Formats: sequence, C-alpha cells, structure tokens
Amino acid sequence: MTGSDGTAMRTDLCGRLGAGEAGRSVAVCGWVDRRREHSEHLAFIDLRDHTGVLQCVVDGARDLRSEYVVRITGTVTLRPEGTANPALATGEIELQDCEVELLSRAEPPPFPLDERTDVDETLRLRHRYVDLRKPRMQRNLRARAAVNRAIRRAMDAQGFVEVETPMLIASTPEGARDFVVPSRKEPGSFYALPQSPQIFKQLTMVGGVDRYYQIARCLRDEDLRADRQFEFSQLDVEASFATRDDVLGFVTRAVAEATVEVAGHDPGTFERMTWHDAMERFGSDKPDTRFGMELAELTPIFADTQARVFQAPCVKGICLTGGAEDLPRSRVDELVATCQRWGAKGLAWMRVVATEEGGSALDAGVAKFLSPDEGAAVIEALEARPGDMVFLVADERPLVRHVLGLLRLELGRPPVNDGRFNYLWVVDFPLFEGLNAEGEPIPSHHPFTMPHTDDLPLLMSGQPLDGEALLGIRSQAYDLVLNGWELGSGSVRIHRRDIQQRIFEVLGIAPDEAQERFGFLLDAFRYGAPPHAGFAVGLDRLGALLVAEENIREVIAFPKTQSGADPLTDAPSPIADTHLQELGLRVLPPA
Ligand code: AMO
Ligand code: AMP
Repeated sequence: MTGSDGTAMRTDLCGRLGAGEAGRSVAVCGWVDRRREHSEHLAFIDLRDHTGVLQCVVDGARDLRSEYVVRITGTVTLRPEGTANPALATGEIELQDCEVELLSRAEPPPFPLDERTDVDETLRLRHRYVDLRKPRMQRNLRARAAVNRAIRRAMDAQGFVEVETPMLIASTPEGARDFVVPSRKEPGSFYALPQSPQIFKQLTMVGGVDRYYQIARCLRDEDLRADRQFEFSQLDVEASFATRDDVLGFVTRAVAEATVEVAGHDPGTFERMTWHDAMERFGSDKPDTRFGMELAELTPIFADTQARVFQAPCVKGICLTGGAEDLPRSRVDELVATCQRWGAKGLAWMRVVATEEGGSALDAGVAKFLSPDEGAAVIEALEARPGDMVFLVADERPLVRHVLGLLRLELGRPPVNDGRFNYLWVVDFPLFEGLNAEGEPIPSHHPFTMPHTDDLPLLMSGQPLDGEALLGIRSQAYDLVLNGWELGSGSVRIHRRDIQQRIFEVLGIAPDEAQERFGFLLDAFRYGAPPHAGFAVGLDRLGALLVAEENIREVIAFPKTQSGADPLTDAPSPIADTHLQELGLRVLPPA
C-alpha cells in the first residue's frame, strides 16, 4: 500500500523507533492516543499502533481527536535535554516537521483506553473492537498466538500430525450439556457441537494416524465462570502404542515450550503426585503447590478421644503460621461460618502459645476439650509454633478434605500472577468419582478410560462389586495442574472390547444404549484398534495464566459475558418464523 503521496503507507512501527533512528524521515500510522496543546500552533500527538506510542509534534490548528486514524510523516528527533520520558520505550525521541494525513475520523470512544479506568465489562465487550486496541489486550492476543506457535512447533517436532475433526457431529461423552444445531434436511433431527474431539481422535488412531494433535475448538453448554466459557480451545492430543508416561512427556514439552515463549521462563521438570496424595495433603485434585500449609492427618490422635467434636471417622488440620497474632476474633468467626457453608459441622480452632518451660501448648477455642497428650500430638503433627493458629475439621473423610482444602486456599493462596509456574501432574485418578441416585458409579473422566493395571483383575473378575469396591478402583487418568487451576486431562484409553463392555455394564449403560450412543466407536474397535492414550490442555486457561490474567475472557478476542451473552452481536437472539418453519421447529412460550 502507498500513502496519498505515492510513497509507502508506513516505513516504521511507532514503538520500534528509538534514538538510533534520529535524523531519519519516517512514515507511521495509527490511532491518536492523546493530544496535548503546547501553544496555539503546536500540539503533541501521541500516536499509537500495536507496538507502542510515539510523540509527534504537529501543527496545533489541525482538528485531531482521540482515536482518529492518521498517517504522520516526519523526522525522528532527539527530545530536548531534560524532556525525555524514561517511562516510555520511545521516550528519548519525538517526530518533528510532521505532515498529518487524516485516514478516518472517530466518534469519542465509549470508554477511556487507558489501563487505569475500570470499565464495565458489558460495555467493553459491546465495543470489543475498541477494547482490543488497549496494550493489555494486544499483549494477550499476541501471547495466545505465541502459545499456539510454540505448541505447533513442539508437536511437529515430536512427529504429531494436525488433523481437523468435524463440528457438526453426534453427541460426545464429556459430561456437559451439548449445544445442538437443528437439521434443515431432516427436520426433527439435530447435530451436536463437539464438547471435544474425543471420539474422532480415537478413530484417527484406529485409522493409523499414529500421533494426532489439533488446536481444537470445543463447545459446552455449562455455567460460566472465570475459567469457563461456552467456546474454548484445547491442545488435543492422541498417540498410538504410547504409554501414560509417553503422553506426559509429549504434553510437558509442548507446555514448557509455550511457557518459555510467552513468559520467558523454563518451568523445569513437572512434579508428579498421585490423586490420593493430592486429596490427603491438599484437599484438592488440583493442588496449588506454590505454598505449603498441608493438611495433617490427626485421626489416630483422636481414636479414643473424650472430646465429642472429634469423635468422627476422620480428623485433619492445618496450621496458619502467625495466625494467633494476625487473625482477629471476628475473622475467625467468619471462617467458621464459611466452613459451615462449605458443608462442615463446624471449624475447631486453637491458638498455639509458649509455655513457661519453653514448649508449646494449645489455648482458647476448643483447647479445653483436648487432653494434654492430644494437644501435644496435634502441635507435633502440624509442626505448629507459638503464635500460630491451628484449624481442625472432623467428619467423613471426603468432606474433611474438601473443607480444609478450601480453607487452605482462603488463608494462604498467593495471587495468581506472582510469576511462578508450578506445573504438577496428578496421576492415578479413581475410575469413578461417586455414585448416582441409582447407586451406579459416575466416571471421573469419560467411559473410555482404562482402569489401572493393578485394579483390572478385580474389575474383570465378574464378581458383583459394591459401591466401596467400585470407588476404590483407580484409573489410568491424569490431570495437569498449574497454580491450582486444572489445565488439562487425559487418559490411557480402553482398546479392548471386553473391558469396554464391562465398563458400560458397571455404569448401567445397556448394550443397546451403548451401541446407540457410541456404536461407531465400538464398531471401529472391531477392526483392529491399537492401544492408545491422549490428553487435552485448555489453551484459554494456559494463556491466561502465562500472562497473569485471572479470567480467561481477557485472553479471548470475542468472549461471552458471565451470563453467556455476546453484547457485540447480541447473540443469542430469536430467529425469524420462516426460518423456524424451514427447520421444522416451534418455540414454546417461556415456562
Ligand atoms: P476435559 O473435559 O477435562 O477433557 O477438558 C480438558 C481441558 O479443557 C479445558 N476446559 C475448558 N476451558 C474453558 N472453558 C470450558 N468450559 C472448559 N472445559 C474444559 C480445561 C480442561 O482441563 N476429551 C478429554 C481429554 C482427553 O481425554 O484426551 C477432555 O476434553 O483446561
Ligand atoms: P459445639 O460443641 O458444637 O458448640 O462446637 C464447639 C466448637 O467445635 C465450635 O467452634 C465448632 O465450630 C467446632 N466444631 C463443631 N463440630 C465440628 C466438627 N465436626 N469439626 C470441627 N469443628 C467442629
């Protein structure tokens, strides 16, 4: 493209100019970030493009307002002594002898584009095209692209082939609600949009692709949160003749390279922890391992206790260093109420004080109910010191872990953007996460997950299994966690029909139902299925954490609001009656 004077539209980018270019004639293009009057005939224009801001000295008589689009030609000049701006990358220079060409006028922007003003999100999203001009959004979009670039490079180097899978499909088994698309050719029939490419990627394994990956768009109709959108992206991976550890290796490399590319930080080896240890030590299957405050096991201490509160199947505790001094009583009462909201019967707390003999003892709270031996054992198990506060919960084990896991985060979690990247593999998930009302188990991952090798004989023995036995069966499923966020999940898959049938049987899925829902996969497995395993990383979550954002909406160009609306296009919106008719649909009045 050329400017109206026949030369290049632009020769340089605003943010890339510096003292080294002094004396050069340049042409730059962009938006008017700010205008400051200097004198009647002189104004400063800060010109902004995606690389930064450049100060231009222009004729003050020109009508140039915020967000006008202009082309400016001029000479790069060192700013006069004492007027350099060290806060600005281009602060040593300015553009002088400027000619300004107006390319587009602009109405006043709907909100200020500086990073200081807190703008209502709906307003930001309604005018997302303006919002995206902010340096923060420019940085985030470019970081997302850098993540994809690094991932493609890493997957390619490991022999993976990018394969696209369809968007209009039959239902997938991820467990969320499907978005559906009515069929015009077959009124009354519907496509589902993919919750993930799960079944198709397994079919590529039967198809001999060997190593598949895709930066895949997924759609799930679920309640939105800071880390959840209807539409999101995954690095989706599947490999044949690969073990769990092979998959962990492939994904570690891709994620580590993305971390280096975006955050300039090599995360080193990713630690591993079993699901069981994660639950016992951190009360969560996605532990934030940036801080300690682990859950201590106290059950044996209270085996024969006289204290009613602690006569329970499980007692665990955490210790807040310095808590006895830092936490006012009102805050403690708040914490008790919060734990009750999370499902606990109560929260027992005690202060740790120094004794005259130079030891430690428990004081206040429920301390009076504990025997001296119990008190000493609690202090030892929690490694508590004078000035600390200890918190105990007694109940069924899953509830104790859940509540103390949340309390630990409440009391100790560092801000998400503290510059650390604690990647953690959580392995050996249970095969089932619980039982439904009919007493049937609910899969932790999806029904194609291979049971743990050691637990397979029990499952396949054919003997009836009660709830407790079922919930004790481990799987070959694994998660990747970053700073307490679930970043991804995967598993070794079932490639044997007999195991798959047994799982369906245990899940209460009748053979004809299994055939109806997943028949094409089961059929495919009759024609030679290689052992295979895979994984999917949530790229919106990875991107957000790499640029220290707490909400994935900040790294998505055009996200939905928390309520699922798009204020920019007004979706979702009604469609015309004629269109409904064509699809064979009628809308019922609101319930
Ligand atoms: P899963 O359902 O655990 O596994 O999803 C994998 C990862 O995708 C991300 N994710 C989301 N991100 C944003 N918004 C959402 N609504 C959302 N839902 C999920 C998370 C999550 O860890 N097919 C399996 C993977 C496999 O077995 O290979 C799957 O999709 O970061
Ligand atoms: P109560 O005897 O019910 O008045 O409880 C005495 C203290 O123990 C209160 O601070 C309660 O919050 C706490 N508490 C009660 N039940 C439990 C429990 N199951 N686990 C931990 N603390 C509890």
